[in-house]
Amino acid sequence: MTTMRSRLFSRRSIRQGAVLAVGSTKIKLLLACCVVLSFIAFSVRKASFMGWEQNDVSLYPSSLPRKGYTILMNTWKRNDLLKQSISHYALCPGLDSVHIVWSEPDLPSDSLVNFLTNVVKQNSKGGREIELKFDINVEDSLNNRFKEIKDLKSDVVFSVDDDIIFPCTTVEFAFRAWQSAPDTMVGFVPRVHWLDKSKGDQDTYIYSGWWSVWWTGTYSMILSKAAFFHKKYLNMYTYEMPSSIREYVTKNRNCEDIAMSFLVANATRAPPIWVKGKIYEIGSTGISSLGGHNSRRTHCVNRFSVEYGGMPLVSTSVKAVDSRFSWFW
Ligand SMILES: *[C@@H]1O[C@H](CO)[C@@H](O)[C@H](O)[C@H]1NC(C)=O
Repeated sequence: MTTMRSRLFSRRSIRQGAVLAVGSTKIKLLLACCVVLSFIAFSVRKASFMGWEQNDVSLYPSSLPRKGYTILMNTWKRNDLLKQSISHYALCPGLDSVHIVWSEPDLPSDSLVNFLTNVVKQNSKGGREIELKFDINVEDSLNNRFKEIKDLKSDVVFSVDDDIIFPCTTVEFAFRAWQSAPDTMVGFVPRVHWLDKSKGDQDTYIYSGWWSVWWTGTYSMILSKAAFFHKKYLNMYTYEMPSSIREYVTKNRNCEDIAMSFLVANATRAPPIWVKGKIYEIGSTGISSLGGHNSRRTHCVNRFSVEYGGMPLVSTSVKAVDSRFSWFW
């Protein structure tokens, strides 16, 4: 009996073992299938998953030789801000060259030149070489900002003040928006003009700042404190725009940005493009850029529209937004 039982027992256990063995080969087979399938799925997905590029963050077509942009930075006796902002922009992948508009009576110091040269060199990696140039001006005029630049490496300049910083993703997005409309001014600081109805039939205009743009969603100018535009407009500003406008800008120390907006609007007969982006103000002048001193600006708008024989500015409410960062479709 005991032997029978023990035999039975042992036989059972042998059978169980056999069942288990069959089960484990099934599981192993299943596991192997899973591994192979997920490997296939992964490699397919990596190449292209339903045609979506998963890994391309920069959006640059890597096979084509690229052409980037030039930073055109106006500065005035604020070397610390200049160092800070150039150190930042040198990290941006699309940057080809840096032009610093220098109008101070003294030449840039050796320490400043060395510092910036090093910054630019450190970021010139992998076949990319960022050029650094100081454009020295004898006369101190706001028109210096838009002087013609000979042998410019790129077709487009990103004109930006030394006291505001944009993240590289923001800059590169605006650059791409400009590539879609290379005759247009593309930038981050919109302003608007309105017909002054209190003046009756006369074509008199009012210049309005940020609050008006925010309230109405309408703008007609993009300020050159942060804007992309084609380099041809530098030539036009210096050689083709009525000299009376340049004289007005020098004399009043104001409105060179409005003059540039008029120039581009007159050439394109179209509005500029406002791009959504993060702005960081690193200077102490944050308040003045938001509002105030609009009466002098209103005077410029009216003065320039007379020079042009009519109002060239065109209003719009189009705003370019990076769809990768707007989750709500
Ligand atoms: C405005 O544009 C027109 C056509 O391109 C040009 O002939 C004219 O000179 C421009 N006006 C000014 C004041 O530059």
